Amino acid sequence: MFLWGTATASYQIEGAAHEDGKGQSIWDTFSHEPGRIRDGHTGDVACDHYHRWPEDVALMAEAGLNAYRFSISWPRVQPTGRGAVNPAGLDFYDRLVDALCEKGIAPTPTLFHWDLPQALEDEGGWLNRDISAHFADYAAIVADRLSDRVTTWTTLNEPFIHMVFGYGLGIHAPGKALFLDALPAAHHQLLAHGLAVQALRDGGAERVLIANNCTPVWPASDSAEDLAAAEAYDTLHNRLFNDPLFLGAYPDFSAYGIAELDFVRTGDLETIAQPLDGLGINYYNPTRIAGPGSDGLPFTDAGITGHPTTAFGWPVVPDGLRELLVTFKARYGTALPPVYVTENGCSYEGVDDQERIDFLDGHIAAMRQAQAEGVDVRGYFVWSLLDNFEWAEGYHQRFGLVHVDFDTQVRTPKASYHWLREFLAKQG
Ligand code: FCB
Repeated sequence: MFLWGTATASYQIEGAAHEDGKGQSIWDTFSHEPGRIRDGHTGDVACDHYHRWPEDVALMAEAGLNAYRFSISWPRVQPTGRGAVNPAGLDFYDRLVDALCEKGIAPTPTLFHWDLPQALEDEGGWLNRDISAHFADYAAIVADRLSDRVTTWTTLNEPFIHMVFGYGLGIHAPGKALFLDALPAAHHQLLAHGLAVQALRDGGAERVLIANNCTPVWPASDSAEDLAAAEAYDTLHNRLFNDPLFLGAYPDFSAYGIAELDFVRTGDLETIAQPLDGLGINYYNPTRIAGPGSDGLPFTDAGITGHPTTAFGWPVVPDGLRELLVTFKARYGTALPPVYVTENGCSYEGVDDQERIDFLDGHIAAMRQAQAEGVDVRGYFVWSLLDNFEWAEGYHQRFGLVHVDFDTQVRTPKASYHWLREFLAKQG
Protein backbone atom coordinates (compact mmCIF):
# COMPACT_ATOMS: atom_id res chain seq x y z
CA MET A 1 0.00 0.00 0.00
CA PHE A 2 1.35 3.41 -0.97
CA LEU A 3 1.62 5.60 2.12
CA TRP A 4 -0.05 9.00 1.92
CA GLY A 5 0.69 10.92 5.06
CA THR A 6 1.52 14.15 6.77
CA ALA A 7 4.62 14.75 8.85
CA THR A 8 5.20 16.64 12.09
CA ALA A 9 7.85 16.76 14.83
CA SER A 10 7.54 16.65 18.60
CA TYR A 11 9.08 20.00 19.52
CA GLN A 12 7.24 21.75 16.70
CA ILE A 13 3.73 20.72 17.77
CA GLU A 14 3.50 19.09 21.19
CA GLY A 15 4.02 21.90 23.70
CA ALA A 16 3.72 20.58 27.27
CA ALA A 17 7.43 21.27 27.52
CA HIS A 18 7.63 20.49 31.21
CA GLU A 19 4.62 18.28 31.82
CA ASP A 20 4.21 14.75 33.13
CA GLY A 21 7.88 14.24 33.84
CA LYS A 22 9.32 15.29 30.50
CA GLY A 23 13.01 16.22 30.69
CA GLN A 24 14.60 19.36 29.26
CA SER A 25 15.60 19.21 25.60
CA ILE A 26 18.18 21.33 23.81
CA TRP A 27 15.32 23.16 22.09
CA ASP A 28 13.72 24.04 25.45
CA THR A 29 17.04 25.60 26.39
CA PHE A 30 17.90 27.22 23.06
CA SER A 31 14.47 28.78 22.40
CA HIS A 32 14.66 30.58 25.75
CA GLU A 33 18.03 32.15 24.99
CA PRO A 34 17.62 35.79 23.95
CA GLY A 35 18.01 36.46 20.25
CA ARG A 36 17.93 32.85 19.09
CA ILE A 37 14.37 32.69 17.75
CA ARG A 38 12.56 35.33 15.74
CA ASP A 39 10.45 37.46 18.11
CA GLY A 40 11.49 35.31 21.07
CA HIS A 41 8.98 32.57 20.23
CA THR A 42 9.34 29.20 21.95
CA GLY A 43 7.79 25.75 21.57
CA ASP A 44 6.53 25.74 25.18
CA VAL A 45 2.93 25.47 23.97
CA ALA A 46 3.28 25.16 20.18
CA CYS A 47 0.09 23.50 18.83
CA ASP A 48 -0.69 22.04 22.26
CA HIS A 49 -0.85 18.71 20.47
CA TYR A 50 0.06 16.92 23.71
CA HIS A 51 -3.49 17.73 24.87
CA ARG A 52 -5.30 18.16 21.57
CA TRP A 53 -4.06 15.08 19.72
CA PRO A 54 -7.53 13.46 19.42
CA GLU A 55 -8.66 16.45 17.35
CA ASP A 56 -5.52 16.23 15.22
CA VAL A 57 -5.97 12.51 14.60
CA ALA A 58 -9.58 13.19 13.62
CA LEU A 59 -8.39 15.80 11.10
CA MET A 60 -6.07 13.23 9.49
CA ALA A 61 -8.78 10.58 9.38
CA GLU A 62 -11.24 13.03 7.84
CA ALA A 63 -8.70 13.86 5.12
CA GLY A 64 -8.38 10.18 4.23
CA LEU A 65 -4.66 9.89 5.03
CA ASN A 66 -3.37 6.38 5.65
CA ALA A 67 -0.09 7.19 7.44
CA TYR A 68 1.23 9.71 9.93
CA ARG A 69 4.91 10.53 10.40
CA PHE A 70 5.42 12.03 13.85
CA SER A 71 8.49 12.16 16.04
CA ILE A 72 8.97 10.88 19.55
CA SER A 73 10.52 13.25 22.04
CA TRP A 74 13.51 11.45 23.52
CA PRO A 75 13.42 13.50 26.78
CA ARG A 76 9.71 12.76 27.17
CA VAL A 77 10.56 9.05 27.20
CA GLN A 78 13.94 9.27 28.95
CA PRO A 79 14.22 12.65 30.71
CA THR A 80 18.01 12.61 30.84
CA GLY A 81 18.53 10.54 27.71
CA ARG A 82 19.56 7.41 29.51
CA GLY A 83 18.40 5.11 32.25
CA ALA A 84 15.03 5.57 33.89
CA VAL A 85 12.01 5.70 31.63
CA ASN A 86 9.25 8.26 32.20
CA PRO A 87 6.12 6.08 32.00
CA ALA A 88 3.77 9.01 31.31
CA GLY A 89 5.85 9.93 28.27
CA LEU A 90 5.69 6.46 26.77
CA ASP A 91 1.97 6.29 27.59
CA PHE A 92 1.35 9.40 25.52
CA TYR A 93 2.78 7.81 22.38
CA ASP A 94 1.04 4.54 23.17
CA ARG A 95 -2.35 6.27 23.22
CA LEU A 96 -1.55 8.17 20.03
CA VAL A 97 -0.55 4.96 18.26
CA ASP A 98 -3.75 3.25 19.38
CA ALA A 99 -5.89 6.12 18.15
CA LEU A 100 -4.14 6.15 14.77
CA CYS A 101 -4.53 2.39 14.32
CA GLU A 102 -8.20 2.66 15.19
CA LYS A 103 -8.63 5.10 12.29
CA GLY A 104 -6.62 3.01 9.85
CA ILE A 105 -3.70 5.43 9.86
CA ALA A 106 -0.27 3.73 9.98
CA PRO A 107 1.78 5.27 12.79
CA THR A 108 5.22 6.03 11.35
CA PRO A 109 7.37 7.42 14.17
CA THR A 110 10.78 9.05 13.88
CA LEU A 111 12.95 8.52 16.94
CA PHE A 112 14.91 11.76 16.72
CA HIS A 113 13.84 15.06 15.24
CA TRP A 114 16.39 17.32 16.92
CA ASP A 115 15.10 17.63 20.52
CA LEU A 116 18.07 15.98 22.20
CA PRO A 117 17.91 15.60 25.99
CA GLN A 118 19.84 18.54 27.45
CA ALA A 119 21.65 16.19 29.86
CA LEU A 120 23.27 14.49 26.85
CA GLU A 121 24.17 17.80 25.26
CA ASP A 122 25.90 18.71 28.50
CA GLU A 123 28.22 15.77 27.76
CA GLY A 124 28.94 16.99 24.24
CA GLY A 125 25.75 15.99 22.43
CA TRP A 126 26.40 14.47 19.00
CA LEU A 127 30.07 15.41 19.23
CA ASN A 128 30.37 12.70 21.88
CA ARG A 129 30.56 9.20 20.45
CA ASP A 130 28.90 7.68 23.56
CA ILE A 131 25.57 9.26 22.60
CA SER A 132 25.20 6.66 19.83
CA ALA A 133 24.89 3.82 22.33
CA HIS A 134 22.39 5.78 24.43
CA PHE A 135 20.32 6.32 21.31
CA ALA A 136 20.24 2.58 20.65
CA ASP A 137 19.03 1.96 24.22
CA TYR A 138 16.28 4.52 23.74
CA ALA A 139 15.31 2.88 20.41
CA ALA A 140 15.00 -0.48 22.17
CA ILE A 141 12.72 0.99 24.86
CA VAL A 142 10.37 2.53 22.33
CA ALA A 143 10.34 -0.54 20.07
CA ASP A 144 9.55 -2.75 23.01
CA ARG A 145 6.46 -0.69 23.73
CA LEU A 146 5.18 0.10 20.23
CA SER A 147 6.41 -2.46 17.71
CA ASP A 148 3.30 -4.61 18.13
CA ARG A 149 1.44 -1.81 16.29
CA VAL A 150 4.14 0.18 14.50
CA THR A 151 5.64 -1.50 11.44
CA THR A 152 7.51 1.39 9.78
CA TRP A 153 10.14 3.24 11.82
CA THR A 154 12.50 6.09 11.08
CA THR A 155 15.68 6.53 13.11
CA LEU A 156 16.82 10.12 12.51
CA ASN A 157 15.41 13.18 10.84
CA GLU A 158 17.81 15.14 8.65
CA PRO A 159 21.14 14.55 10.36
CA PHE A 160 22.59 16.97 7.77
CA ILE A 161 20.47 19.92 8.89
CA HIS A 162 20.96 19.04 12.55
CA MET A 163 24.74 18.97 12.10
CA VAL A 164 25.03 22.10 9.97
CA PHE A 165 22.48 24.34 11.67
CA GLY A 166 22.96 22.99 15.20
CA TYR A 167 26.71 22.39 15.40
CA GLY A 168 28.19 24.07 12.31
CA LEU A 169 26.47 27.46 12.16
CA GLY A 170 24.66 27.81 15.49
CA ILE A 171 21.31 28.73 13.92
CA HIS A 172 19.53 25.81 15.64
CA ALA A 173 19.98 24.13 19.02
CA PRO A 174 22.44 23.48 20.54
CA GLY A 175 23.74 26.70 18.96
CA LYS A 176 27.35 25.74 18.31
CA ALA A 177 29.23 27.40 15.44
CA LEU A 178 32.06 24.96 14.84
CA PHE A 179 32.05 24.99 11.01
CA LEU A 180 33.90 21.90 9.76
CA ASP A 181 34.69 20.81 13.30
CA ALA A 182 31.00 19.83 13.44
CA LEU A 183 31.73 16.80 11.23
CA PRO A 184 31.92 14.30 14.12
CA ALA A 185 28.23 15.11 14.69
CA ALA A 186 27.57 13.54 11.29
CA HIS A 187 29.44 10.38 12.11
CA HIS A 188 27.97 9.91 15.57
CA GLN A 189 24.46 10.40 14.24
CA LEU A 190 25.09 7.82 11.53
CA LEU A 191 26.60 5.43 14.05
CA ALA A 192 23.56 5.96 16.30
CA HIS A 193 21.38 5.22 13.30
CA GLY A 194 23.17 1.92 12.63
CA LEU A 195 22.97 0.82 16.25
CA ALA A 196 19.32 1.83 16.42
CA VAL A 197 18.50 -0.18 13.30
CA GLN A 198 19.79 -3.26 15.11
CA ALA A 199 17.91 -2.38 18.31
CA LEU A 200 14.67 -1.75 16.42
CA ARG A 201 14.93 -5.03 14.52
CA ASP A 202 15.71 -6.89 17.75
CA GLY A 203 12.61 -5.21 19.17
CA GLY A 204 10.38 -6.49 16.36
CA ALA A 205 10.46 -3.63 13.85
CA GLU A 206 9.44 -4.71 10.37
CA ARG A 207 10.65 -1.75 8.31
CA VAL A 208 13.35 0.78 9.21
CA LEU A 209 14.14 4.03 7.38
CA ILE A 210 16.22 7.14 7.87
CA ALA A 211 14.92 10.54 6.70
CA ASN A 212 17.61 12.54 4.92
CA ASN A 213 17.34 16.08 3.67
CA CYS A 214 18.54 15.92 0.07
CA THR A 215 18.87 18.47 -2.71
CA PRO A 216 19.68 18.40 -6.41
CA VAL A 217 22.86 20.45 -6.79
CA TRP A 218 23.03 22.76 -9.78
CA PRO A 219 26.39 24.23 -10.78
CA ALA A 220 25.99 27.98 -11.44
CA SER A 221 27.85 27.57 -14.77
CA ASP A 222 29.86 25.05 -16.76
CA SER A 223 33.15 26.52 -15.56
CA ALA A 224 35.55 24.05 -13.99
CA GLU A 225 35.44 26.10 -10.80
CA ASP A 226 31.66 25.96 -10.45
CA LEU A 227 31.54 22.28 -11.36
CA ALA A 228 34.11 21.43 -8.68
CA ALA A 229 32.26 23.57 -6.14
CA ALA A 230 28.97 21.84 -6.94
CA GLU A 231 30.64 18.48 -6.44
CA ALA A 232 32.03 19.61 -3.08
CA TYR A 233 28.60 20.78 -1.97
CA ASP A 234 26.97 17.54 -3.12
CA THR A 235 29.55 15.69 -1.02
CA LEU A 236 28.57 17.58 2.11
CA HIS A 237 24.80 17.74 1.68
CA ASN A 238 23.94 14.48 -0.09
CA ARG A 239 26.86 12.05 -0.08
CA LEU A 240 28.02 12.44 3.53
CA PHE A 241 24.72 11.04 4.81
CA ASN A 242 23.94 8.54 2.06
CA ASP A 243 27.21 7.03 0.78
CA PRO A 244 28.03 5.39 4.14
CA LEU A 245 24.53 3.88 4.24
CA PHE A 246 24.46 2.51 0.72
CA LEU A 247 28.11 2.24 -0.32
CA GLY A 248 29.60 1.54 3.10
CA ALA A 249 32.18 4.32 2.67
CA TYR A 250 32.50 8.04 3.29
CA PRO A 251 32.92 10.29 0.25
CA ASP A 252 36.21 12.03 -0.51
CA PHE A 253 36.55 15.18 1.59
CA SER A 254 39.78 16.44 0.03
CA ALA A 255 37.95 19.50 -1.40
CA TYR A 256 37.59 20.57 2.24
CA GLY A 257 41.27 20.00 2.96
CA ILE A 258 40.39 16.89 4.95
CA ALA A 259 42.40 13.81 4.04
CA GLU A 260 41.01 11.50 6.69
CA LEU A 261 37.96 11.47 8.95
CA ASP A 262 39.90 10.56 12.05
CA PHE A 263 36.85 10.02 14.26
CA VAL A 264 35.81 6.94 12.24
CA ARG A 265 36.85 3.69 13.96
CA THR A 266 37.26 0.20 12.60
CA GLY A 267 33.88 -1.48 12.22
CA ASP A 268 31.85 1.74 12.32
CA LEU A 269 31.02 1.67 8.62
CA GLU A 270 29.74 -1.89 8.86
CA THR A 271 27.42 -0.77 11.66
CA ILE A 272 26.25 2.24 9.67
CA ALA A 273 25.65 0.30 6.46
CA GLN A 274 22.98 -1.96 7.99
CA PRO A 275 20.52 -3.01 5.32
CA LEU A 276 17.63 -0.54 5.29
CA ASP A 277 14.04 -1.06 4.18
CA GLY A 278 13.67 2.43 2.85
CA LEU A 279 15.31 5.79 2.37
CA GLY A 280 13.21 8.73 3.49
CA ILE A 281 13.91 11.78 1.37
CA ASN A 282 12.91 15.23 2.58
CA TYR A 283 12.82 17.52 -0.44
CA TYR A 284 12.21 21.25 -0.46
CA ASN A 285 14.28 22.79 -3.27
CA PRO A 286 17.43 22.46 -5.39
CA THR A 287 20.63 24.34 -4.51
CA ARG A 288 22.66 26.35 -7.04
CA ILE A 289 26.35 26.42 -6.29
CA ALA A 290 29.28 28.56 -7.49
CA GLY A 291 33.01 28.52 -6.79
CA PRO A 292 34.55 29.31 -3.41
CA GLY A 293 34.05 32.62 -1.62
CA SER A 294 36.05 34.12 1.21
CA ASP A 295 34.81 31.97 4.12
CA GLY A 296 37.20 29.09 3.53
CA LEU A 297 34.55 26.69 2.22
CA PRO A 298 35.02 25.25 -1.28
CA PHE A 299 31.64 26.56 -2.54
CA THR A 300 29.18 29.46 -2.33
CA ASP A 301 25.40 29.35 -2.55
CA ALA A 302 24.61 31.25 -5.75
CA GLY A 303 20.84 31.34 -5.15
CA ILE A 304 18.11 30.39 -7.60
CA THR A 305 16.21 32.94 -9.64
CA GLY A 306 13.50 32.56 -12.26
CA HIS A 307 11.23 30.37 -10.14
CA PRO A 308 8.37 31.35 -7.85
CA THR A 309 9.23 31.41 -4.15
CA THR A 310 7.34 30.47 -0.99
CA ALA A 311 6.75 32.86 1.93
CA PHE A 312 10.06 31.56 3.30
CA GLY A 313 11.76 32.65 0.07
CA TRP A 314 12.46 29.05 -0.98
CA PRO A 315 12.33 28.46 -4.76
CA VAL A 316 9.48 26.28 -5.97
CA VAL A 317 10.95 23.67 -8.37
CA PRO A 318 8.72 20.58 -8.54
CA ASP A 319 10.89 18.90 -11.18
CA GLY A 320 13.76 19.02 -8.66
CA LEU A 321 12.05 16.16 -6.87
CA ARG A 322 12.06 14.03 -10.01
CA GLU A 323 15.66 14.99 -10.69
CA LEU A 324 16.72 14.09 -7.17
CA LEU A 325 15.00 10.70 -7.17
CA VAL A 326 16.35 9.77 -10.58
CA THR A 327 19.86 10.93 -9.63
CA PHE A 328 19.83 8.80 -6.49
CA LYS A 329 18.67 5.77 -8.45
CA ALA A 330 21.49 6.27 -10.94
CA ARG A 331 24.00 6.87 -8.16
CA TYR A 332 23.21 3.96 -5.86
CA GLY A 333 21.60 1.49 -8.27
CA THR A 334 20.41 -1.70 -6.62
CA ALA A 335 21.87 -0.56 -3.29
CA LEU A 336 19.11 2.06 -3.09
CA PRO A 337 16.18 0.71 -1.09
CA PRO A 338 12.60 1.80 -1.81
CA VAL A 339 12.20 5.53 -1.34
CA TYR A 340 9.64 7.40 0.73
CA VAL A 341 9.23 11.15 0.31
CA THR A 342 9.12 11.75 4.04
CA GLU A 343 8.75 15.54 3.80
CA ASN A 344 7.67 17.95 1.11
CA GLY A 345 5.77 21.16 1.59
CA CYS A 346 5.80 24.94 1.63
CA SER A 347 5.22 28.01 3.75
CA TYR A 348 2.42 30.38 2.72
CA GLU A 349 0.10 32.70 4.63
CA GLY A 350 -3.66 32.34 4.73
CA VAL A 351 -6.25 29.60 4.51
CA ASP A 352 -7.12 30.20 0.89
CA ASP A 353 -3.84 28.66 -0.16
CA GLN A 354 -4.04 27.98 -3.88
CA GLU A 355 -0.21 28.23 -3.97
CA ARG A 356 0.08 25.22 -1.67
CA ILE A 357 -2.36 23.26 -3.83
CA ASP A 358 -0.24 24.05 -6.89
CA PHE A 359 2.91 23.14 -4.98
CA LEU A 360 1.62 19.74 -3.87
CA ASP A 361 0.03 18.97 -7.20
CA GLY A 362 3.29 19.76 -9.01
CA HIS A 363 5.47 17.75 -6.65
CA ILE A 364 3.22 14.71 -6.64
CA ALA A 365 3.29 14.79 -10.45
CA ALA A 366 7.11 15.00 -10.35
CA MET A 367 7.23 12.02 -7.99
CA ARG A 368 5.03 10.05 -10.36
CA GLN A 369 7.31 10.95 -13.23
CA ALA A 370 10.25 9.56 -11.26
CA GLN A 371 8.27 6.37 -10.68
CA ALA A 372 7.65 6.17 -14.41
CA GLU A 373 11.42 6.52 -14.87
CA GLY A 374 12.00 3.50 -12.65
CA VAL A 375 12.34 4.80 -9.09
CA ASP A 376 10.56 2.67 -6.48
CA VAL A 377 8.69 5.31 -4.43
CA ARG A 378 6.38 3.98 -1.75
CA GLY A 379 5.12 6.96 0.19
CA TYR A 380 4.60 10.71 0.20
CA PHE A 381 4.26 12.82 3.36
CA VAL A 382 3.22 16.46 3.32
CA TRP A 383 5.09 18.75 5.67
CA SER A 384 2.96 19.54 7.60
CA LEU A 385 -0.42 18.71 9.08
CA LEU A 386 -0.57 21.87 11.17
CA ASP A 387 1.05 25.29 11.14
CA ASN A 388 3.72 24.88 13.80
CA PHE A 389 6.91 26.15 15.45
CA GLU A 390 9.31 26.52 12.54
CA TRP A 391 12.57 26.44 14.51
CA ALA A 392 14.54 29.72 14.30
CA GLU A 393 11.58 31.34 12.50
CA GLY A 394 9.21 30.72 15.41
CA TYR A 395 5.57 30.80 14.32
CA HIS A 396 6.28 33.00 11.30
CA GLN A 397 6.37 30.30 8.63
CA ARG A 398 3.08 28.47 8.15
CA PHE A 399 3.56 25.05 6.57
CA GLY A 400 0.24 23.45 7.60
CA LEU A 401 -2.63 21.99 5.64
CA VAL A 402 -4.53 23.15 8.71
CA HIS A 403 -4.27 26.71 10.01
CA VAL A 404 -3.61 27.12 13.71
CA ASP A 405 -4.55 30.25 15.61
CA PHE A 406 -1.80 30.25 18.22
CA ASP A 407 -3.84 32.43 20.63
CA THR A 408 -6.90 30.20 20.73
CA GLN A 409 -5.49 26.92 19.33
CA VAL A 410 -8.43 26.81 16.91
CA ARG A 411 -7.66 24.59 13.90
CA THR A 412 -9.06 25.60 10.51
CA PRO A 413 -8.51 23.35 7.49
CA LYS A 414 -7.12 25.32 4.57
CA ALA A 415 -8.18 25.00 0.93
CA SER A 416 -5.19 22.66 0.43
CA TYR A 417 -6.57 20.31 3.10
CA HIS A 418 -9.86 20.05 1.21
CA TRP A 419 -7.99 19.61 -2.06
CA LEU A 420 -5.91 16.79 -0.57
CA ARG A 421 -9.01 15.04 0.77
CA GLU A 422 -10.55 15.04 -2.68
CA PHE A 423 -7.27 13.92 -4.23
CA LEU A 424 -6.95 11.00 -1.79
CA ALA A 425 -10.56 9.94 -2.31
CA LYS A 426 -9.69 9.44 -6.00
CA GLN A 427 -6.66 7.26 -5.22
CA GLY A 428 -8.95 4.35 -4.27
C1 FCB B 1 12.72 20.39 7.50
C2 FCB B 1 12.51 19.90 8.92
C3 FCB B 1 11.13 20.14 9.45
C4 FCB B 1 10.56 21.46 9.00
C5 FCB B 1 10.74 21.65 7.51
C6 FCB B 1 10.16 22.95 6.99
O1 FCB B 1 14.08 20.63 7.30
O2 FCB B 1 12.76 18.52 9.00
O3 FCB B 1 11.16 20.03 10.84
O4 FCB B 1 11.11 22.49 9.73
O5 FCB B 1 12.09 21.60 7.19
